[in-house]
Amino acid sequence: MRRTIIAGNWKMHKTQAEASEFWQDFKSAIAETAESREVVLCVPCTSLGVMSKNLHGSAVKLGAQNLHWEESGAYTGEISGPMLVEYGISYVIVGHSERRQFFGETDQTVNFRLRAAQRYGFTPILCVGESKAQRDEGETETLIISQLRKGLKGVDLADLVIAYEPIWAIGTGYTCEAHEANRVIGVIRSVLDRPEISILYGGSVKPQNIDELMAQPEIDGALVGGASLDPQGFARIINYRT
Ligand code: 13P
Repeated sequence: MRRTIIAGNWKMHKTQAEASEFWQDFKSAIAETAESREVVLCVPCTSLGVMSKNLHGSAVKLGAQNLHWEESGAYTGEISGPMLVEYGISYVIVGHSERRQFFGETDQTVNFRLRAAQRYGFTPILCVGESKAQRDEGETETLIISQLRKGLKGVDLADLVIAYEPIWAIGTGYTCEAHEANRVIGVIRSVLDRPEISILYGGSVKPQNIDELMAQPEIDGALVGGASLDPQGFARIINYRT
């Protein structure tokens, strides 16, 4: 069954102290949230320890933003599955466009990371999406289908979340129109042919546009960057109105 998932991607934001401060305000702001809405916080690895303790006993799930496919080794700056297991994380973001753009992530390394995530029992959130230039050239569908085909080789589709994040809508304030996000997510769903996979939208999701996005039949949730840093604003997104 498709689950409703609202995940925050804090990217490179918040110290441990700031993460705990967030949590104090956030937990009361979502106290009345229905359990059918799964809430995830994907925090920087420096805050995984403190957030793992904070989230203990709550329904909010913890997520990481990256993992390496090897168990250990000479990979400066990377983090491995066994290291993340110790924090009790449930999710890991893989293939975010910022990793593809700034850190040389390819469909091949995305694929390695996805399979590693599943080996360690984490549900990967695979990000796909086109740039403005690719959209203008009419390449959106071709690009996304290629990212899915290459990224998902050998990946267990039964334990996976997809996030459609058009690059031109990330951090820009330009949200993809709700009906267009719905259309592209519909394309992704038909390519995957697995009705149970939850597919999220990401890119300038805010308290002001979440109700319209969540009213779309294909959109199962959101991957939220900037607006997930504010406890009240993120709680409003989670408590979207239908
Ligand atoms: P913004 O919500 O800041 O646009 O970021 C979206 C995103 O990249 C989530 O992964």
